[in-house]
Amino acid sequence: MSGYEDEKSMLPYIIGAVILFFVGTAGTTYLPFYDDQMQAPNQNAELRHLSVESSEYRGREVYIREGCHTCHTMFVRPVLADSSLGPISQPADYYYDAPAMLGTKRTGADLMWVGNRWNEDWHREHLLNPQKVLPGSIMPRYDYLSDQDLEDLIAYLMSLKPSPQTEGRPVE
Ligand code: HEC
Repeated sequence: MSGYEDEKSMLPYIIGAVILFFVGTAGTTYLPFYDDQMQAPNQNAELRHLSVESSEYRGREVYIREGCHTCHTMFVRPVLADSSLGPISQPADYYYDAPAMLGTKRTGADLMWVGNRWNEDWHREHLLNPQKVLPGSIMPRYDYLSDQDLEDLIAYLMSLKPSPQTEGRPVE
């Protein structure tokens, strides 16, 4: 068989692969619109639905502006390694989050439910000087933030808690 004949016989496979690719992409993109669980807010989404005038909302803006999401995720996976983090994240948790701070890289810990782990004083000390709280931490210092930005950011971090109605793992 010549090279040309080989190529000709590959054509149905290439067409099949392209069709499969588009069916997969369309399914991943459009099927969620028909999933009721993803299309309605749950209790956690209501807790994360911050009023524009609130300190927590402004803190979220600081979180985005400072790029905290480049080192921190907000997504608890259904795997053993995440079992101490709290309830597994559901799509509906993010209903009002725009943009959702999912993150892609966990250089630091996952912060989905960090509001349950520490108090305000701990956050203040840690944000101003992470190395003082955890020697050897590679997290940058945020001691240059204005008092207002710092307090708003802390309020936002403290608001990241699951609602008591959340099913799933108990929060440690
Ligand atoms: C260069 C990566 C990096 C950036 C940027 C970063 N962090 Fe961190 N963060 C870390 C690392 C690493 C740790 C773990 C060590 C520690 O606690 O200092 C951590 C820990 C934390 C913790 C404690 C989590 C826990 O439960 O133990 C909080 C809260 C936190 N970071 C908040 C923030 C906030 C808010 C910002 C943005 C203002 C931010 N981080 C930016 C790397 C980063």
